[in-house]
Amino acid sequence: MSNVVLIGPMASGKSTVGAALARKLGRPHIDTDHFFVARYGPIPEFFAEHGEEAFREREAQVVAELLDSPRPSVISLGGGSILSPEIRQLLKNQYVVMLDVTEEQAQARIGDATTRPMLTKGGEAPVERWKRIYAEREPLYRDCADFVVSAAEATVGHRVDTIVEAM
Ligand code: S3P
Repeated sequence: MSNVVLIGPMASGKSTVGAALARKLGRPHIDTDHFFVARYGPIPEFFAEHGEEAFREREAQVVAELLDSPRPSVISLGGGSILSPEIRQLLKNQYVVMLDVTEEQAQARIGDATTRPMLTKGGEAPVERWKRIYAEREPLYRDCADFVVSAAEATVGHRVDTIVEAM
């Protein structure tokens, strides 16, 4: 049995849905951003000190280790993990679910964006950056996904039920 891996843009609910899905399936939940933070410290500070490229290198290492989990788990990935060709390759052996979200839903969740350095660069409004990043990455998310949870499935409970039905 493979892992269930949740991918999707920032603020699509990967951590929240992942935790609820893991409870429902009786599996461990692994949040790759949490492991990154435990190993390297808070993500905004890491970006400020070392930059995005160093973040992506270490993120790919952490994600690759966690995808190799000894027990079938639910694994929530950071929104940019799919930028790594190595990670995209590894995802071919996993059950991958994309959580889709509308711009309005994302905007309501982004808040002041201080915990998301990708949204606070360059003086642009966080939601404008979110839109641009989503447009760039959407083909990668869809290409990696075995199943896409539509943005219309708005509540955590619906999202979890839809994933379980599709498995
Ligand atoms: C990022 C998403 C974040 C985190 C980092 C970079 C991205 O995770 O990994 O700030 O590039 O999309 P979430 O998707 O959980 O916000």
